[in-house]
Amino acid sequence: MSTSGKQRVLSGMRPTGQLHLGHYHGVLKNWLELQQEYECFFFVADWHALTTEYEDPSIIEKSVWDMVIDWLAVGVNPGAAKLFIQSRVPEHAELHLLLSMSTPLSWLERVPSYKDQQEKLSNKDLTTYGFLGYPLLQTSDIIIYKAGHVPVGEDQVSHVELAREVVRRFNHLYGKEHDFEAKVEAAIKKMGKKNARLYHELRRSYQEQGESQALERARALLESQQNISIGDRERLSGYLDGSGKAIFPEPQALLTPASKMMGLDGQKMSKSYGNTITLRENPSVVEEKIKKMPTDPARVRRTDPGEPGKCPVWNLHQVYSDDDLKDWVVDGCTSAKIGCLDCKKPLIDAILKEQQPIRERANEYINDPETVRGIIADGCDAARDVARETLEEVRDAMGLIYR
Ligand code: TRP
Ligand code: SF4
Repeated sequence: MSTSGKQRVLSGMRPTGQLHLGHYHGVLKNWLELQQEYECFFFVADWHALTTEYEDPSIIEKSVWDMVIDWLAVGVNPGAAKLFIQSRVPEHAELHLLLSMSTPLSWLERVPSYKDQQEKLSNKDLTTYGFLGYPLLQTSDIIIYKAGHVPVGEDQVSHVELAREVVRRFNHLYGKEHDFEAKVEAAIKKMGKKNARLYHELRRSYQEQGESQALERARALLESQQNISIGDRERLSGYLDGSGKAIFPEPQALLTPASKMMGLDGQKMSKSYGNTITLRENPSVVEEKIKKMPTDPARVRRTDPGEPGKCPVWNLHQVYSDDDLKDWVVDGCTSAKIGCLDCKKPLIDAILKEQQPIRERANEYINDPETVRGIIADGCDAARDVARETLEEVRDAMGLIYR
């Protein structure tokens, strides 16, 4: 049950090593905003890492804690968002299993990432049952918290689509509650007299006269109710259009704004390209990496003019520099007034300045592992409470509670 009445957001990351500036500018800054507005669940997808790292899972453990420390260090707030580890909420696995019973094999086979990843990671044998089921496990991650929004990158959108199809099928198969009407009546009462009357009127206009505007207004009314639970909201929504209770809401992908962060070589920043600066990179290494960055190949000599558009360093100025500084770069580069090292200097400064508080906070957590463990323990407990409640509902809907 959502106590805050806020909509839920859920996202996960696979623990595969230290996070880099691309994660920060692409994903984490987005989380920092979301945590202020929504009830957020952010988790370490360690089982998902296992689908590709099953041969040598030993790297996962360190990556889990490194990643949590990175999250905390950039300002993900455990007071606002629930931070947890997937495998510590085993209900995800139970739901995955139950969903697997009714999910057609073809739905999983046609998820584009299935074949793409098998080809891309051809050094690994990914013709496994677990890897095929990856997006269904992800479905379970999402819907077990009844999350409405899932911030993800472009590559994950098809997984959220699958989640929606699975939800529709599940609701259709099992969305009939035996005491539905009684629960609806109770939920209506919670809205207060005035709103209850409005709800009834709107429902009647929709059901008797087919006024779709009335349906929309009624839905908006439900959205605005602060003191009804997510479950009740779904009952009341299902009661409006006669579909019964939707056990799971349909999640939507919240497309993370395409990361502006390019890597040191001008390709997208990614560990597999070896072109990253990690979030907590040693300052001297940052300096060295930037100094070694390739520039516009036309600038062979200091006196040769260049074009920022052909230079990976310019991409970083887009992220770190204000307009004045960017004008200085364009002017200086195209007229050979500045050298490439001059151009790189303000970037080095900006990155070090950005990283300093992150590094300091990370060090505090590194020196205090108990606190980190405690934050995760609390997050796991909170997540598990929600997951357990959902599972009870699911077992009930599927007729699996034999007492
Ligand atoms: N598949 C995601 C990735 O590789 C990680 C993930 C697992 C996830 N479960 C999720 C993301 C649920 C969003 C929601 O990036
Ligand atoms: Fe690139 Fe700056 Fe050198 Fe121009 S001056 S080539 S933008 S590093």
